[in-house]
Amino acid sequence: MKNIHIAALAAGLFIGGVNSSNAQKVNVKKAFQHAELQTDLMLKELTANKNANLVSPRTLEKGELKLVASKDWTSGFFPGVLWYLYENDHSAKRMKEAKQFTVPIEKEKDNGTTHDMGFKVYCSVGTGYQLTKDAHYKEVLIESAKTLSTRFNPKTGVIRSWDHSRDKWVNPTIIDNMLNLELLFEATRLTGDSSFYKIAVSHANTTMKNHFRADYSSYHVVDYDPNTGAVLKRTTHQGYSDASAWARGQAWGLYGYTMCYRYTHNVAYLKQAEHIAHYIFSHPNMPKDLVPYWDFNAPGIPNEPRDASAAAVISSALYELSAYSKANRADYLKKADKILYSLSTDYIAPVGTAKGFILLHSTGSKPSNSEVDVPLSYGDYYYLEALNRKAKL
Ligand code: GLY
Repeated sequence: MKNIHIAALAAGLFIGGVNSSNAQKVNVKKAFQHAELQTDLMLKELTANKNANLVSPRTLEKGELKLVASKDWTSGFFPGVLWYLYENDHSAKRMKEAKQFTVPIEKEKDNGTTHDMGFKVYCSVGTGYQLTKDAHYKEVLIESAKTLSTRFNPKTGVIRSWDHSRDKWVNPTIIDNMLNLELLFEATRLTGDSSFYKIAVSHANTTMKNHFRADYSSYHVVDYDPNTGAVLKRTTHQGYSDASAWARGQAWGLYGYTMCYRYTHNVAYLKQAEHIAHYIFSHPNMPKDLVPYWDFNAPGIPNEPRDASAAAVISSALYELSAYSKANRADYLKKADKILYSLSTDYIAPVGTAKGFILLHSTGSKPSNSEVDVPLSYGDYYYLEALNRKAKL
């Protein structure tokens, strides 16, 4: 990590810095300048792609760009990155690029085989809609919400996350699924049809009841009996163990309940988000720079990979939560700032490297030895979202 820091300094892109009057705060303008340069590089790299089915960059594999089809859960993040850059600079160029990369994701509106609709469609089309109010995007969002709703089971009270691994789970719901609720809340706002809202609330309430331990850490996967709604088991898929606290899972929970409070003003969701934040930041294994290891209980800490993507999600969530949580406002802002500062100094890709990804050092799935200590498109997406949220404060 030290080398990266030096490389960033050498490239003149050190953000903030010891000589700065505000040493622990990210320089948002410089961070966006860096993201612009990296994204231009990514766009250049993508011109070499001749496979029309591969529509978005996801990560680097052995140093090479790994692109994914629209059905992949990460397909919406790169269009989202372009939209967030457009939100910052309002340039016609970025809007054109954002629209271009959003087009191939739209067909996912009819794909009911997974819960990832929010990640795919909301982060691309939804972010574009918030910035343009394009009527076509609105229709895509409503169709997507209808499709996602087909995965809701009134018996369990939740949306089923996965159809795969039937040998392991019957009706698995993962904590990540909280993020898909934003699409449903928005669909009710756009249509006046409360059925989407009701599904989102049922999912959030059931998850609050079944996914959390007494200390407000969360399990990754809860498996339900689809006929009775009984919990069959609580396990992990990407965490260290069934009983551990997978870092990104904690981040999804924090972000999810903060967002649920935005739409419902249900104080139970606000309290849940505050409890999750307390768990995350009081954990003895949280490093000083506030970028968590991939799992809070990873056995080899401090010699374990970090997850910059989890940090980016947490930072973005905290900026929003700081607006709702009066007693903790200053503390949450300080922590969100600290994370952005850490990311933009020690986790940033030096300009011209990493094929144009913005952040390094994220971890996708350590147990499968997949995407360990690499750039991930969702790390970049939530980092830019956090920067935009900070810029608006
Ligand atoms: N939603 C999958 C992940 O967070 O890796």
